[in-house]
Amino acid sequence: MNTAARAAVRLGLDHGFTMLGVYGGFPGLLDGNVRELSWDDVEGWVGDGGAELGTRRDIPSIEQLYSLGRAIESNRIDALLIIGGFNAYLAAHELVTERDRYPAFKIPMICVPASIDNNLPGSELSIGADTALNSAVGALDAIKQSAAASRRCFVAEAMGRRCGYLTLMSGIATGAERVYLNEEGLTLKKLAQDSARMVESFRSGRKLYLVIRNERASENYTLDVLAKIFSEESEGLYDVRQAQIGHLQQGGDPTAFDRIMATKLVAHALDLLSDQLDAGTYHSSYVGLVEGRITHHRLERMDEELDLRARRPLNQWWMGLRDAIGLVNKNLGVIPPQEVPDFGQTVAQAASAREPD
Ligand code: F6P
Repeated sequence: MNTAARAAVRLGLDHGFTMLGVYGGFPGLLDGNVRELSWDDVEGWVGDGGAELGTRRDIPSIEQLYSLGRAIESNRIDALLIIGGFNAYLAAHELVTERDRYPAFKIPMICVPASIDNNLPGSELSIGADTALNSAVGALDAIKQSAAASRRCFVAEAMGRRCGYLTLMSGIATGAERVYLNEEGLTLKKLAQDSARMVESFRSGRKLYLVIRNERASENYTLDVLAKIFSEESEGLYDVRQAQIGHLQQGGDPTAFDRIMATKLVAHALDLLSDQLDAGTYHSSYVGLVEGRITHHRLERMDEELDLRARRPLNQWWMGLRDAIGLVNKNLGVIPPQEVPDFGQTVAQAASAREPD
Protein backbone atom coordinates (compact mmCIF):
# COMPACT_ATOMS: atom_id res chain seq x y z
CA MET A 1 0.00 0.00 0.00
CA ASN A 2 2.80 2.41 0.90
CA THR A 3 4.58 1.81 -2.39
CA ALA A 4 1.44 2.73 -4.32
CA ALA A 5 0.74 5.79 -2.14
CA ARG A 6 4.30 7.02 -2.60
CA ALA A 7 4.06 6.63 -6.35
CA ALA A 8 0.71 8.46 -6.32
CA VAL A 9 2.08 11.42 -4.37
CA ARG A 10 5.26 11.82 -6.39
CA LEU A 11 3.79 11.18 -9.83
CA GLY A 12 0.80 13.36 -8.93
CA LEU A 13 3.09 16.24 -7.95
CA ASP A 14 4.89 15.71 -11.24
CA HIS A 15 1.54 16.22 -13.01
CA GLY A 16 1.23 19.52 -11.15
CA PHE A 17 -1.54 18.32 -8.81
CA THR A 18 -1.89 19.12 -5.14
CA MET A 19 -1.92 15.70 -3.50
CA LEU A 20 -4.13 15.16 -0.47
CA GLY A 21 -3.78 12.01 1.60
CA VAL A 22 -6.98 10.67 3.15
CA TYR A 23 -6.12 8.84 6.37
CA GLY A 24 -8.38 5.86 7.14
CA GLY A 25 -10.37 5.43 3.93
CA PHE A 26 -13.93 6.74 3.57
CA PRO A 27 -14.49 7.05 7.36
CA GLY A 28 -11.32 9.16 7.43
CA LEU A 29 -12.68 11.41 4.73
CA LEU A 30 -15.93 11.82 6.67
CA ASP A 31 -13.97 12.67 9.83
CA GLY A 32 -11.79 15.22 8.04
CA ASN A 33 -8.59 13.20 8.27
CA VAL A 34 -7.18 14.74 5.14
CA ARG A 35 -3.72 16.22 4.81
CA GLU A 36 -1.65 17.59 1.97
CA LEU A 37 1.29 15.31 1.20
CA SER A 38 4.63 16.57 -0.02
CA TRP A 39 7.43 14.78 -1.86
CA ASP A 40 9.31 14.31 1.43
CA ASP A 41 6.29 13.00 3.33
CA VAL A 42 6.47 9.71 1.45
CA GLU A 43 10.23 9.29 1.72
CA GLY A 44 11.08 5.66 2.54
CA TRP A 45 7.64 4.28 1.65
CA VAL A 46 8.80 2.48 -1.50
CA GLY A 47 9.95 -0.68 0.27
CA ASP A 48 7.82 -0.41 3.37
CA GLY A 49 5.13 -3.07 3.71
CA GLY A 50 2.90 -0.94 5.92
CA ALA A 51 0.00 1.37 5.15
CA GLU A 52 0.79 4.83 6.53
CA LEU A 53 -2.53 6.17 5.26
CA GLY A 54 -4.35 3.38 7.08
CA THR A 55 -6.71 0.77 5.68
CA ARG A 56 -10.43 0.64 6.35
CA ARG A 57 -12.96 -1.80 4.97
CA ASP A 58 -16.02 0.39 5.45
CA ILE A 59 -18.37 1.07 2.57
CA PRO A 60 -20.25 4.36 3.11
CA SER A 61 -23.90 3.83 4.01
CA ILE A 62 -26.67 5.62 2.10
CA GLU A 63 -27.06 7.96 5.10
CA GLN A 64 -23.39 8.94 4.88
CA LEU A 65 -23.41 9.90 1.20
CA TYR A 66 -24.54 13.48 1.76
CA SER A 67 -21.75 14.09 4.31
CA LEU A 68 -19.29 12.41 2.00
CA GLY A 69 -20.26 14.79 -0.79
CA ARG A 70 -19.79 17.72 1.59
CA ALA A 71 -16.37 16.38 2.62
CA ILE A 72 -15.31 16.15 -1.04
CA GLU A 73 -16.44 19.74 -1.62
CA SER A 74 -14.98 21.21 1.56
CA ASN A 75 -11.59 19.63 0.91
CA ARG A 76 -11.80 20.89 -2.69
CA ILE A 77 -11.14 17.40 -4.04
CA ASP A 78 -11.22 17.40 -7.87
CA ALA A 79 -10.54 13.71 -8.39
CA LEU A 80 -10.21 10.53 -6.34
CA LEU A 81 -7.49 7.91 -6.67
CA ILE A 82 -8.65 4.93 -4.63
CA ILE A 83 -6.06 2.28 -3.78
CA GLY A 84 -7.84 -0.68 -2.23
CA GLY A 85 -9.59 -4.00 -2.24
CA PHE A 86 -13.07 -5.33 -2.96
CA ASN A 87 -14.94 -3.02 -0.58
CA ALA A 88 -13.10 0.03 -1.89
CA TYR A 89 -14.26 -0.94 -5.39
CA LEU A 90 -17.84 -1.41 -4.19
CA ALA A 91 -17.70 1.96 -2.44
CA ALA A 92 -16.37 3.72 -5.55
CA HIS A 93 -19.08 2.08 -7.62
CA GLU A 94 -21.68 3.28 -5.13
CA LEU A 95 -20.50 6.89 -5.45
CA VAL A 96 -20.55 6.70 -9.23
CA THR A 97 -24.10 5.34 -9.31
CA GLU A 98 -25.30 8.04 -6.88
CA ARG A 99 -23.98 10.94 -8.98
CA ASP A 100 -27.37 12.20 -10.02
CA ARG A 101 -28.42 12.59 -6.40
CA TYR A 102 -25.07 13.92 -5.16
CA PRO A 103 -23.37 16.16 -7.74
CA ALA A 104 -20.21 16.26 -5.57
CA PHE A 105 -19.48 12.77 -6.88
CA LYS A 106 -19.25 14.11 -10.43
CA ILE A 107 -15.47 13.94 -10.33
CA PRO A 108 -13.19 11.37 -11.97
CA MET A 109 -12.49 8.38 -9.73
CA ILE A 110 -9.92 5.71 -10.51
CA CYS A 111 -9.46 2.49 -8.51
CA VAL A 112 -6.08 0.80 -8.23
CA PRO A 113 -6.19 -2.89 -7.23
CA ALA A 114 -4.53 -3.62 -3.88
CA SER A 115 -5.39 -6.84 -2.08
CA ILE A 116 -3.46 -9.94 -1.11
CA ASP A 117 -6.54 -11.97 -2.10
CA ASN A 118 -6.10 -11.14 -5.82
CA ASN A 119 -9.86 -11.04 -6.25
CA LEU A 120 -10.32 -7.73 -8.06
CA PRO A 121 -11.82 -7.15 -11.50
CA GLY A 122 -9.86 -5.99 -14.51
CA SER A 123 -6.45 -7.09 -13.33
CA GLU A 124 -4.71 -10.42 -13.41
CA LEU A 125 -2.83 -9.40 -10.28
CA SER A 126 -3.46 -6.95 -7.50
CA ILE A 127 -0.79 -5.14 -5.51
CA GLY A 128 0.22 -7.22 -2.50
CA ALA A 129 -0.69 -10.62 -3.92
CA ASP A 130 2.86 -11.39 -5.04
CA THR A 131 4.29 -10.38 -1.66
CA ALA A 132 1.71 -12.51 0.17
CA LEU A 133 2.40 -15.46 -2.12
CA ASN A 134 6.11 -15.23 -1.44
CA SER A 135 5.47 -15.10 2.31
CA ALA A 136 3.15 -18.12 2.11
CA VAL A 137 5.66 -20.10 0.06
CA GLY A 138 8.45 -19.24 2.53
CA ALA A 139 6.31 -20.48 5.41
CA LEU A 140 5.27 -23.67 3.62
CA ASP A 141 8.86 -24.44 2.61
CA ALA A 142 9.90 -24.12 6.25
CA ILE A 143 7.03 -26.38 7.34
CA LYS A 144 8.06 -29.00 4.79
CA GLN A 145 11.68 -28.87 5.95
CA SER A 146 10.58 -29.47 9.53
CA ALA A 147 9.26 -32.89 8.55
CA ALA A 148 12.47 -34.31 7.10
CA ALA A 149 12.74 -37.25 9.46
CA SER A 150 9.16 -38.46 9.79
CA ARG A 151 6.14 -39.64 7.81
CA ARG A 152 3.90 -36.70 8.00
CA CYS A 153 0.89 -35.08 6.39
CA PHE A 154 0.63 -31.33 6.74
CA VAL A 155 -2.70 -29.63 6.28
CA ALA A 156 -2.10 -25.90 5.83
CA GLU A 157 -4.51 -23.02 5.35
CA ALA A 158 -3.90 -19.98 3.14
CA MET A 159 -5.79 -16.67 3.20
CA GLY A 160 -7.73 -15.25 0.28
CA ARG A 161 -11.33 -15.49 1.49
CA ARG A 162 -13.28 -17.12 -1.38
CA CYS A 163 -10.53 -16.60 -3.90
CA GLY A 164 -8.18 -19.57 -4.26
CA TYR A 165 -5.29 -17.69 -5.88
CA LEU A 166 -2.91 -17.81 -2.90
CA THR A 167 -3.80 -21.44 -2.22
CA LEU A 168 -3.32 -22.73 -5.74
CA MET A 169 -0.19 -20.74 -6.50
CA SER A 170 1.48 -21.58 -3.19
CA GLY A 171 0.50 -25.21 -3.82
CA ILE A 172 2.20 -25.22 -7.22
CA ALA A 173 5.25 -23.42 -5.85
CA THR A 174 5.71 -25.82 -2.92
CA GLY A 175 4.75 -29.05 -4.68
CA ALA A 176 1.60 -29.64 -2.62
CA GLU A 177 -0.17 -32.92 -3.25
CA ARG A 178 -3.66 -31.43 -2.92
CA VAL A 179 -5.27 -28.00 -2.77
CA TYR A 180 -8.86 -27.21 -1.82
CA LEU A 181 -10.36 -24.07 -3.32
CA ASN A 182 -13.66 -22.33 -2.71
CA GLU A 183 -14.06 -22.18 -6.49
CA GLU A 184 -14.34 -25.97 -6.60
CA GLY A 185 -16.01 -26.75 -3.29
CA LEU A 186 -15.31 -29.76 -1.13
CA THR A 187 -17.43 -32.89 -0.72
CA LEU A 188 -17.24 -35.91 1.54
CA LYS A 189 -16.82 -38.09 -1.53
CA LYS A 190 -13.80 -36.09 -2.66
CA LEU A 191 -12.31 -36.24 0.83
CA ALA A 192 -12.80 -40.00 0.96
CA GLN A 193 -11.00 -40.41 -2.37
CA ASP A 194 -8.20 -38.12 -1.28
CA SER A 195 -7.78 -39.94 2.05
CA ALA A 196 -7.55 -43.26 0.23
CA ARG A 197 -4.93 -41.83 -2.16
CA MET A 198 -3.01 -40.37 0.75
CA VAL A 199 -2.93 -43.70 2.61
CA GLU A 200 -1.88 -45.51 -0.56
CA SER A 201 0.86 -43.04 -1.22
CA PHE A 202 2.33 -43.34 2.31
CA ARG A 203 2.13 -47.14 1.95
CA SER A 204 4.24 -46.89 -1.20
CA GLY A 205 6.96 -45.03 0.68
CA ARG A 206 5.94 -41.37 0.70
CA LYS A 207 7.36 -39.39 3.64
CA LEU A 208 5.61 -36.08 3.24
CA TYR A 209 2.19 -35.06 1.98
CA LEU A 210 1.14 -31.44 1.81
CA VAL A 211 -2.49 -30.36 1.56
CA ILE A 212 -3.39 -26.66 1.37
CA ARG A 213 -6.92 -25.42 1.88
CA ASN A 214 -8.21 -21.98 1.02
CA GLU A 215 -9.66 -20.43 4.19
CA ARG A 216 -13.16 -20.42 2.70
CA ALA A 217 -12.87 -23.68 0.74
CA SER A 218 -15.75 -25.07 2.77
CA GLU A 219 -17.69 -23.78 5.76
CA ASN A 220 -17.77 -27.21 7.41
CA TYR A 221 -14.64 -29.01 6.29
CA THR A 222 -12.43 -26.69 8.29
CA LEU A 223 -8.69 -27.01 8.77
CA ASP A 224 -9.30 -28.95 11.97
CA VAL A 225 -11.89 -31.26 10.44
CA LEU A 226 -9.61 -32.07 7.48
CA ALA A 227 -6.69 -32.82 9.80
CA LYS A 228 -8.91 -35.09 11.91
CA ILE A 229 -10.24 -36.98 8.88
CA PHE A 230 -6.75 -37.56 7.47
CA SER A 231 -5.47 -38.55 10.91
CA GLU A 232 -8.32 -40.99 11.47
CA GLU A 233 -7.56 -42.71 8.18
CA SER A 234 -3.81 -42.96 8.84
CA GLU A 235 -4.14 -45.73 11.45
CA GLY A 236 -0.67 -44.91 12.71
CA LEU A 237 0.95 -44.98 9.26
CA TYR A 238 1.72 -41.24 9.34
CA ASP A 239 1.23 -38.21 11.59
CA VAL A 240 -0.98 -35.30 10.70
CA ARG A 241 -0.21 -31.69 11.65
CA GLN A 242 -2.14 -28.56 10.83
CA ALA A 243 -0.82 -25.06 10.20
CA GLN A 244 -2.66 -21.83 9.59
CA ILE A 245 -0.24 -19.67 7.66
CA GLY A 246 -2.06 -16.62 9.01
CA HIS A 247 -1.23 -12.95 9.07
CA LEU A 248 2.33 -13.24 7.91
CA GLN A 249 0.67 -13.28 4.48
CA GLN A 250 -0.50 -9.71 5.08
CA GLY A 251 2.86 -8.36 6.24
CA GLY A 252 6.38 -8.21 4.94
CA ASP A 253 8.14 -5.76 2.69
CA PRO A 254 6.73 -5.69 -0.84
CA THR A 255 8.48 -7.77 -3.48
CA ALA A 256 10.20 -6.00 -6.36
CA PHE A 257 7.38 -7.20 -8.62
CA ASP A 258 4.72 -5.58 -6.41
CA ARG A 259 6.65 -2.32 -6.15
CA ILE A 260 7.10 -2.04 -9.89
CA MET A 261 3.53 -3.06 -10.69
CA ALA A 262 2.19 -0.56 -8.12
CA THR A 263 4.18 2.21 -9.75
CA LYS A 264 2.99 1.31 -13.25
CA LEU A 265 -0.68 1.02 -12.21
CA VAL A 266 -0.63 4.30 -10.33
CA ALA A 267 1.11 6.05 -13.25
CA HIS A 268 -1.65 4.88 -15.58
CA ALA A 269 -4.34 5.93 -13.10
CA LEU A 270 -2.86 9.42 -12.81
CA ASP A 271 -2.66 9.77 -16.59
CA LEU A 272 -6.36 8.90 -16.78
CA LEU A 273 -7.22 11.43 -14.06
CA SER A 274 -5.15 14.08 -15.75
CA ASP A 275 -6.90 13.49 -19.09
CA GLN A 276 -10.29 13.72 -17.39
CA LEU A 277 -9.43 16.93 -15.58
CA ASP A 278 -8.09 18.50 -18.77
CA ALA A 279 -11.21 17.53 -20.67
CA GLY A 280 -13.56 18.53 -17.85
CA THR A 281 -15.10 15.06 -17.82
CA TYR A 282 -15.55 12.63 -14.95
CA HIS A 283 -15.35 9.10 -16.28
CA SER A 284 -14.41 6.57 -13.67
CA SER A 285 -12.47 3.34 -14.07
CA TYR A 286 -10.39 0.66 -12.43
CA VAL A 287 -6.91 0.00 -13.74
CA GLY A 288 -5.20 -3.34 -14.07
CA LEU A 289 -2.61 -5.58 -15.60
CA VAL A 290 -3.99 -7.74 -18.41
CA GLU A 291 -1.75 -9.92 -20.60
CA GLY A 292 1.30 -7.86 -19.71
CA ARG A 293 -0.33 -4.49 -20.46
CA ILE A 294 -1.67 -1.85 -18.11
CA THR A 295 -5.25 -1.12 -19.02
CA HIS A 296 -8.53 0.12 -17.53
CA HIS A 297 -12.26 -0.62 -17.49
CA ARG A 298 -15.31 1.53 -16.79
CA LEU A 299 -16.34 1.43 -13.13
CA GLU A 300 -20.03 1.66 -14.02
CA ARG A 301 -19.82 -1.76 -15.68
CA MET A 302 -17.84 -3.49 -12.94
CA ASP A 303 -20.64 -5.94 -12.11
CA GLU A 304 -20.33 -7.56 -15.56
CA GLU A 305 -16.92 -8.87 -14.58
CA LEU A 306 -17.74 -10.06 -11.08
CA ASP A 307 -19.25 -12.89 -9.15
CA LEU A 308 -20.51 -10.54 -6.46
CA ARG A 309 -21.61 -13.21 -4.03
CA ALA A 310 -18.23 -14.92 -4.02
CA ARG A 311 -16.48 -11.54 -4.27
CA ARG A 312 -14.14 -12.45 -7.10
CA PRO A 313 -13.89 -12.02 -10.88
CA LEU A 314 -16.01 -14.36 -13.01
CA ASN A 315 -12.98 -15.18 -15.08
CA GLN A 316 -9.87 -16.05 -13.09
CA TRP A 317 -6.95 -16.73 -15.46
CA TRP A 318 -4.99 -18.70 -12.89
CA MET A 319 -7.68 -21.40 -12.65
CA GLY A 320 -6.19 -22.63 -15.92
CA LEU A 321 -3.19 -23.77 -13.89
CA ARG A 322 -5.40 -25.97 -11.73
CA ASP A 323 -4.22 -29.22 -13.33
CA ALA A 324 -0.59 -28.46 -12.53
CA ILE A 325 -1.10 -29.83 -9.01
CA GLY A 326 -2.23 -33.21 -10.31
CA LEU A 327 0.18 -33.35 -13.25
CA VAL A 328 3.30 -33.00 -11.15
CA ASN A 329 1.92 -35.59 -8.72
CA LYS A 330 0.90 -38.05 -11.40
CA ASN A 331 0.39 -40.95 -9.04
CA LEU A 332 -2.36 -38.90 -7.39
CA GLY A 333 -4.37 -38.30 -10.55
CA VAL A 334 -5.57 -35.17 -12.35
CA ILE A 335 -8.12 -33.03 -10.55
CA PRO A 336 -11.32 -32.27 -12.50
CA PRO A 337 -11.78 -28.72 -13.86
CA GLN A 338 -13.86 -26.12 -12.03
CA GLU A 339 -17.51 -25.48 -12.55
CA VAL A 340 -18.31 -21.78 -12.44
CA PRO A 341 -21.61 -21.26 -10.63
CA ASP A 342 -24.04 -18.64 -11.90
CA PHE A 343 -24.68 -16.08 -9.16
CA GLY A 344 -27.12 -13.27 -9.74
CA GLN A 345 -26.33 -10.37 -7.45
CA THR A 346 -26.12 -6.66 -8.08
CA VAL A 347 -23.26 -4.44 -6.95
CA ALA A 348 -25.65 -2.63 -4.62
CA GLN A 349 -26.66 -5.93 -2.97
CA ALA A 350 -23.02 -6.90 -2.57
CA ALA A 351 -22.21 -3.51 -1.07
CA SER A 352 -25.12 -3.66 1.34
CA ALA A 353 -24.03 -7.13 2.49
CA ARG A 354 -21.04 -5.22 3.90
CA GLU A 355 -18.74 -8.17 4.19
CA PRO A 356 -15.28 -7.25 5.41
CA ASP A 357 -12.86 -6.68 2.57
O1 F6P B 1 -8.74 -9.57 2.51
C1 F6P B 1 -7.45 -9.74 2.97
C2 F6P B 1 -7.38 -10.75 4.08
O2 F6P B 1 -6.04 -10.96 4.41
C3 F6P B 1 -8.06 -12.07 3.81
O3 F6P B 1 -7.32 -12.93 2.99
C4 F6P B 1 -8.25 -12.57 5.21
O4 F6P B 1 -9.33 -13.46 5.32
C5 F6P B 1 -8.58 -11.31 5.95
O5 F6P B 1 -8.01 -10.24 5.23
C6 F6P B 1 -8.07 -11.30 7.36
O6 F6P B 1 -8.57 -10.17 7.97
P1 F6P B 1 -8.06 -9.66 9.38
O7 F6P B 1 -6.67 -9.14 9.18
O8 F6P B 1 -9.04 -8.59 9.74
O9 F6P B 1 -8.06 -10.82 10.32
